[in-house]
Amino acid sequence: MTRQIIVGNWKMNGTSRDSQALVEALLAGLPATVPDIVTCPPFTQLALLADKLKGSPIALGAQDCHKDVSGAHTGDISPAMLTDLGVSYVILGHSERRQEHGELDETVREKAVAATKAGLTPIVCIGETEDQRESGEHFDTLGWQIKGSLPDNFSGILAYEPIWAIGTGRAATEDEIAETMKFLREELVRQFGEAGKTVRILYGGSVNAKNAASILSIADVAGALVGGASLNAEAFLSIIGAAS
Ligand code: G3P
Repeated sequence: MTRQIIVGNWKMNGTSRDSQALVEALLAGLPATVPDIVTCPPFTQLALLADKLKGSPIALGAQDCHKDVSGAHTGDISPAMLTDLGVSYVILGHSERRQEHGELDETVREKAVAATKAGLTPIVCIGETEDQRESGEHFDTLGWQIKGSLPDNFSGILAYEPIWAIGTGRAATEDEIAETMKFLREELVRQFGEAGKTVRILYGGSVNAKNAASILSIADVAGALVGGASLNAEAFLSIIGAAS
């Protein structure tokens, strides 16, 4: 069985001092046996953390990247700039980027292609709104997002984050997650054939120290993408401890 993966998405939080303290607490509290662990600080903290995490079991991830290698893209960061710093994962298509920056499935797909080419592992996020779930359109939505956001021969990680569960303290129920995981796997296999069988699927949305163990034991959940609780060393260590 492959190890589960726990990814902390710090979003737009943390000064250098905060990041340093958080990472030091994590490193000091890691259990002897760990799952795969990735921490995704803001861009401004990457260099600092690359140094701190060198040789540790915690890998470094970014929260976005551009699709081009270089060029006239004010304010953007290329995949090559990330690998240059020792970053190995990148979150793409998070619902906050889709909502706040108008990112479309196609943009996400192009970024995933570029990230993979540069040697990064893309963590591509998909998820339905509350309205879509209530009106029973959630599976259609997720199916289209997979089709539009994942490149052919996708070898990265898929993160299912229902938008209504993000930062609300209301994680999806075990039944909802189990049913959705089953759907996502079937859809991946339908769209990508054999390759769809090996894509790791994470759950994200109000994962915390209390619910992590039950969420991580749901069939086909390969790990968790954690927002708020990843900013607290004790909570994140509990989630790490709940993973296999
Ligand atoms: O990417 C992780 C995220 O969107 C979930 O956030 O705070 O609900 O764990 P949170």
